[in-house]
Amino acid sequence: MKKPRILVGATSIVFFIIIWKLYGIESGVEELKQELEYQENINRFPLSLERIVNPVTIYCVTPTYWRLVQKAELIQVLQTLTLASFKVNIKWIVIEDSEQKTSLVTNLLKRIDDAGDSRLSYVHLNAKTPPFQQLKAKDPRWKKHRGVEQRNAALKWIRENIKPHGSKKIIFFMDDDNTYDVRLFEEIAKVDKVGVWPVGLVGGLNLETPIVDPKTGEVLKFKSGWQSKRVFSLDMAAFGINIELILNKTITVFSYRSEVGYLENDFLSELIEKRQLEPLANNCTKVYVWHTRTMNPEALKKIELHDEE
Ligand code: UGA
Ligand code: MN
Repeated sequence: MKKPRILVGATSIVFFIIIWKLYGIESGVEELKQELEYQENINRFPLSLERIVNPVTIYCVTPTYWRLVQKAELIQVLQTLTLASFKVNIKWIVIEDSEQKTSLVTNLLKRIDDAGDSRLSYVHLNAKTPPFQQLKAKDPRWKKHRGVEQRNAALKWIRENIKPHGSKKIIFFMDDDNTYDVRLFEEIAKVDKVGVWPVGLVGGLNLETPIVDPKTGEVLKFKSGWQSKRVFSLDMAAFGINIELILNKTITVFSYRSEVGYLENDFLSELIEKRQLEPLANNCTKVYVWHTRTMNPEALKKIELHDEE
């Protein structure tokens, strides 16, 4: 009678050990799974603060003009560029639509001096839109092109200050009111001649995008909600250009004479052919910039804060 009892006892102990070991393996597997998931999330996290050495410089050209939201818009752009400069060198060319440089913009740019990081630097210019090209308060938005005078001033500065054949430099027309995912700048750094990508919330659509031939990788056409006859149906935020191309064509500028919606099309037509466009942002499957528009707020009374900085 004794033997079977010992046998039952021993079997139970072995049984418990097996269960205990299995549980251990199970929780080990679980821990491993969690670790892998954690690693994956780190890689997926869009705001990685790892600093990368990249010889490319992106020249971000931002026209800007006085309105109540100006400072708020510019601070968002400044902070985006600060983050972007962790991945690629940034030169921010800010061109005020004004007779003189304002203290608002000057003081905001001083923050870049104070940060003292050579990967983010700036150029401060001003160029006033001539009165007859200026959009009036009651005009519909599309009636006049915006940012023309200012972008041309930046192009002039580039032609006068950049020598050809140096390290890679890309120009990106970065309006002050759009929303930029910092990952866009890593894409722009890849541009060889002219790179293109989708833009969200533009042209009457949720997004406007180049259509890429999956076999050849060439841009075939564009999906756009308006002015569909354009060769390049692209918003200003949808492309980056190698500065060498600009330096080679000394007269390419933005023109007030472009038809409504044709500003970008006419500029690009001078520089490149459609089949040469380089699709970026994962073959134009990712949206990293949105053509957002900030509502003009009402401020019936003005409170003096001496907010000088
Ligand atoms: C769209 C495009 O996204 C612009 O890049 C393009 O210049 C414009 O159409 C056009 O066809 O002219 P939208 O959002 O309607 O843009 O234009 P805004 O954002 O009002 O202006 C574009 C840039 O010019 C902004 O950076 C803005 O600050 C600046 N701007 C605007 C001036 O410098 N002065 C002005 O009087 C108005
Ligand atoms: Mn805009």
